Amino acid sequence: MKDLKFTRLLCGLILLLATWRGADVLAQAQLPSIDGQIADSEYAHRYWAEAIGMELHWTIEGEYIYIGLRGPTLGWVSVGWNPTGAIKEGADIIIGYLRGGELFLQDYFANTSISHLNDVSLGGRDDVLESSGSEVAGAQPQTTIEFRRRLETNDKFDRPIAPGAQTVLLAYSPYDDFVSYHGEKRTVVTINFFAGGAQEAGLFARPRALGSDQLLQSWLWTVLTGIAMIVGLSVAYLLWPGKKT
Ligand code: HEM
Repeated sequence: MKDLKFTRLLCGLILLLATWRGADVLAQAQLPSIDGQIADSEYAHRYWAEAIGMELHWTIEGEYIYIGLRGPTLGWVSVGWNPTGAIKEGADIIIGYLRGGELFLQDYFANTSISHLNDVSLGGRDDVLESSGSEVAGAQPQTTIEFRRRLETNDKFDRPIAPGAQTVLLAYSPYDDFVSYHGEKRTVVTINFFAGGAQEAGLFARPRALGSDQLLQSWLWTVLTGIAMIVGLSVAYLLWPGKKT
């Protein structure tokens, strides 16, 4: 009798363990695989930036975000989020391209409105945990990158991915490097990574450089400094002691 009870308990335990392991394996199977290919419905969310033909895919799982990005180019593709200043200043940026079949992908920080430096060179970390990519040449070129990182990395050159609307920047260029200008191939979108909604924000909607108040102020200062210089020089000329000789 005792043996039977023990056998039942053991069977119960094994069943429980198998169910739990099964659920875990199922959950793993539903996560995007970072293999350089974005399959239909691989990710939980998708945004199609029609104006530039770029696709952004993402899935949040626990403390991680999985991102897939595809652009119609053989050069770099990039996604950035949470700029704090004009254009892209202060944004967390990931740029990737393929050369000779090899993926070059780095974690960047937009140190000014139009430039970026990689986190490592700034004294931070490259917080991409895994990445992969592929490209397809031909009449309709395509570059795909996929990566995984923590939502919050605690690196001061990264910006957290948090609930609520966040400004997201997308861009690509035809060049295999981390520095070439994208020209018109860029767009801005507001995305709620957690809820999954995305809304085209429009170009030129965010500050470009100085606000109109600041522009007026700097213009006034320039004019006043000019007037002060002219008056000062005229007075100095008139009062100059050796002027008559
Ligand atoms: C590689 C060097 C880069 C240079 C020299 C550069 C330069 C510029 C300049 C001059 C502008 C303003 C003019 C315009 O709208 O085109 C701009 C806008 C923009 N850039 Fe870049 N950029 C670079 C990389 C990037 C990267 C990596 C991203 C990342 C996604 C990006 C995203 C954007 C976006 C979304 C705008 C439009 C912003 C708006 O309209 O609010 N740029 N960039």
